[in-house]
Amino acid sequence: QEQKPKQVTGYLLFSLGTAVIGSLQFGYNTGVINAPEQKLRSFFNDTWMERYGEPISTGVCTIVWSVSVAIFSVGGMVGSFSVGVMANRFGRRRSMFLVNCLAVIGGLLMGFSTICSSYEMVIAGRLVIGLFCGLFTGLTPMYVGEVSPTDLRGAFGTLHQLGVVVGILIAQIFGLESLLGSQKLWPLLLALTVAPAILQCILLPFCPESPRFLLINLQQEEQARKALVRLRGTENVTTDMQEMKEESAKMAQEKKVTIAELFRSAAYRQPLLIAVMLQLSQQLSGINAVFYYSTGIFASAGVKQPIYATIGAGIVNTIFTVVSLFLVEKAGRRTLHLFGLGGMAVSALLMTVSLLLKSYNVMSYIAILAVMLFVAMFELGPGPIPWFIVAELFSQGPRPAAMAVAGCCNWTANFLVGMSFPKLEELLGPWVFLIFATLLLLFFIFTFFKVPETKGKTFDEIARGFGGPLPGIIAVTIAPSSPDKEKVPLVEAAPPA
Ligand code: GLC
Repeated sequence: QEQKPKQVTGYLLFSLGTAVIGSLQFGYNTGVINAPEQKLRSFFNDTWMERYGEPISTGVCTIVWSVSVAIFSVGGMVGSFSVGVMANRFGRRRSMFLVNCLAVIGGLLMGFSTICSSYEMVIAGRLVIGLFCGLFTGLTPMYVGEVSPTDLRGAFGTLHQLGVVVGILIAQIFGLESLLGSQKLWPLLLALTVAPAILQCILLPFCPESPRFLLINLQQEEQARKALVRLRGTENVTTDMQEMKEESAKMAQEKKVTIAELFRSAAYRQPLLIAVMLQLSQQLSGINAVFYYSTGIFASAGVKQPIYATIGAGIVNTIFTVVSLFLVEKAGRRTLHLFGLGGMAVSALLMTVSLLLKSYNVMSYIAILAVMLFVAMFELGPGPIPWFIVAELFSQGPRPAAMAVAGCCNWTANFLVGMSFPKLEELLGPWVFLIFATLLLLFFIFTFFKVPETKGKTFDEIARGFGGPLPGIIAVTIAPSSPDKEKVPLVEAAPPA
C-alpha cells in the first residue's frame, strides 16, 4: 500500500490565506459604497457650495453618485483584462505584491477627498480600486488553483468566494452609522482597504511562488521542487513533479498564450465558451441586483426594517459559501452549479409572486425568504465555481489569458446589471425578477449539456478531455534559459485528432 503523502500543511494554508486577502478586498470594496450613500451625496453638495456658491442640482448629484459607484466595475474590467500579461511577466506572487500599490493609492485618494474638498478624488479612487480588484479576481484564483493539491482544488478554490463574501459582510457591518458609516468617518471607511493591502505585502514574501509557474514557465526545476516540498510537507513530491513535467513537455510550444491566440486556436474554443458562459451565469443570475439594491427590494415588498434583512442576506451568503466549500469535492462542480441555478430560478419566481401579492401581509416574509433562498442557492454553485473553474479548464500556457477574458466578461456583466437594474425595475415593476428566472433557465440548460465535471482530475486530464493541449503541433523549442524571450508564434498545424 502506497503511503499517501501529507497534503494539507500549515504552510499551504498560510499561503492560501495570504492570497485570499485579495478576495477579501474585492468583497469589501463591492459592499462598502452602499451604506454611506447619503453622506457622500451631502459631501458632493458641500464641495459644490464651496466652489460655485450654490447647491448642487439633484440631477448632477445623482450623476456624480452613479459614476462613483459604477466606475469601480469599469476599473474591474480593465484590471481583470490585464491579469494575463502581469501574471506571466512578473509571476503570480510578485504580481500580487505589486498590485497592492493600487489599493494604497486608491484608498488614500478616497480617504483624503474631504480634506481636499474634491469629489473627483472619490471617483478617481474608486476607479483605481476597481483596477486593483479586477486584477485580484484573476490573480487569487490562479494562484490558489496552482498551489492546491488536485483533490482539494475545488474546496480551496471556494476560499476565494469565501473571502469575497466575508469582505462584503465586513463592509456591511462597518458601514453601520454607529461604526464607520457616519458623517465624519466615511472617508476612513473607504480608506480602510489600505490596511489589508499592507498586511498582504508583509506576508507575501514568506509565501512561495507557484511551483507550476517556476517549473513550466521558468524551467526552474529545483526551485519548483523546493516550493512543493514545503507546501506539501513531504519530500515525496514526485507525483506532482511528474505531472507538471508532462504538462510542460506537451506545452513546449505554448509557454505563454496571448489573448488573440486563445481565440484563434480551435483547441481552446470549447473551454473558453464554457468559462465565459459560467461567468455570465454568475452575474446575469441577478445576484448583484440583490447585493446592490436589496434594501430597496425589501422596502418595496413591505419589509419594516430592510437594513436588518440586508445584513441577514450577508450572513446567509457567508454560511452557504462554507457549505459549498465542504460539498464541492464530494458533489462535484457540475452538480452544484446546476442545483444552484435551478434553485435560484425557483427563488426568483417566488420573489415575483411575493412582489405581485404584496397587499397580503404575509408576503413580506415570503419576500425575505425568497431573497435568502436566492442568495443561498447562489453560493452553493454559481458564486464560487465560476471563479475557480476557469483555472481548472486550462493548462498553464493559456490559463492567464483565459482568466483575463473570463474575468473581463464577469466584470462587464456585473456593470450591466448594476447599471440597468434600477431602470428595469422602474419599467417592469414586480415582474423584474422574471428576466433573471429566464436567464437562469437558459444557463441551466447550457450547463447541463456542455459543462464537464472537473472534480479530481489533473489539469492535463481536463485539457485532454477537450482534445488539447494542442496535440499534433510541431514542437518549436524555446531556449529554456531564456523563458522571457518573445514567444514563438503559434504554428497553425494539424488540428486536434
Ligand atoms: C461573487 C460575484 C460578486 C458578488 C458576490 C456575492 O463573487 O462575483 O459580483 O457580489 O459573489 O457574494
